[in-house]
Amino acid sequence: MQASKSVGILTTVDEMRAAARAARQRSKTLGFIPTMGALHEGHLSLIRSAGAKCDAVVVSIFVNPLQFGPNEDFFRYPRPFEKDLALLEQESVDFVFAPSPEEMYPAGAVTCVEVKRLSEKLCGRSRQGHFRGVTTIVSKLFNIIQPNLAFFGQKDAAQVAIIRRMVKDLNIPVEIVVCPIVREPDGLAMSSRNAYLSEEQRKSALVLSAALRHMEEAFENGERSSKTLLSAGVRIFEQEPAAKLDYLEIIDPDTLDDVNQLSKPALVAVAAFIGTTRLIDNVLLRPKGL
Ligand code: PAJ
Repeated sequence: MQASKSVGILTTVDEMRAAARAARQRSKTLGFIPTMGALHEGHLSLIRSAGAKCDAVVVSIFVNPLQFGPNEDFFRYPRPFEKDLALLEQESVDFVFAPSPEEMYPAGAVTCVEVKRLSEKLCGRSRQGHFRGVTTIVSKLFNIIQPNLAFFGQKDAAQVAIIRRMVKDLNIPVEIVVCPIVREPDGLAMSSRNAYLSEEQRKSALVLSAALRHMEEAFENGERSSKTLLSAGVRIFEQEPAAKLDYLEIIDPDTLDDVNQLSKPALVAVAAFIGTTRLIDNVLLRPKGL
């Protein structure tokens, strides 16, 4: 662990823009990690990866109202700001950008960025407008900070595909770096939303990683039919009545289109409700030699 150092906290777009410009002039590479706070080891792994690759690092903490539906958890989303700052002080972070919703969306703002087609898949199907909210805030943050590299977690695999597509389509001069999923020792993917789970629900939540693991094993044993693999995964969910499956799909990691036969790398993506908490997870299945 590094010695604690002081992190510059910026709350306005103008301050952040000026600090990022100065950092870009001073250093060769500026790295950026967008987050919604309630930081855990998953976030910290992105920050450490940025620290290893970049001369200066900016982390944003902003619970983005635009990516939450009207009946979702925007108001109760955890916001342990002081605790987050204490964690960031242990890492190599130069600036934290923590704007208010009014600063990011002043009255009159009506412009959105939408990655068509991809944003209607997976979480976009059950969370209408979610990905439009994500691509809008991420493009605003890219415009303000203008990083050379931006770090995202494989945990949100559809988000990665959509951001990559957006960066390509809009010629945004940033390199997207994707970091592996960080899990709890028992397999549960780390998530800020795990804090909502009761002890009992925490156990039920293991069904997501267990189903993925089961499908991965079947794949490693030679199964290549998506239909068969998906049935095997659904059977694991049937053994956990406390979990309500939202989707379980095998898809192309770039286009998010369905894959029927696994002849090239494919993503198994799952979303499920444990009580009112919606959790997601995924695993990449890669045929040997590819
Ligand atoms: P948030 O859920 O806070 O996640 C911030 C980043 O941390 C994302 O890139 C996410 O994929 C990554 N992350 C979360 N859990 C992880 C884990 N267990 N292992 C590895 N990486 C993990 O994703 C968002 O915020 C927002 O949509 C955002 C991009 C900030 C736009 O508002």
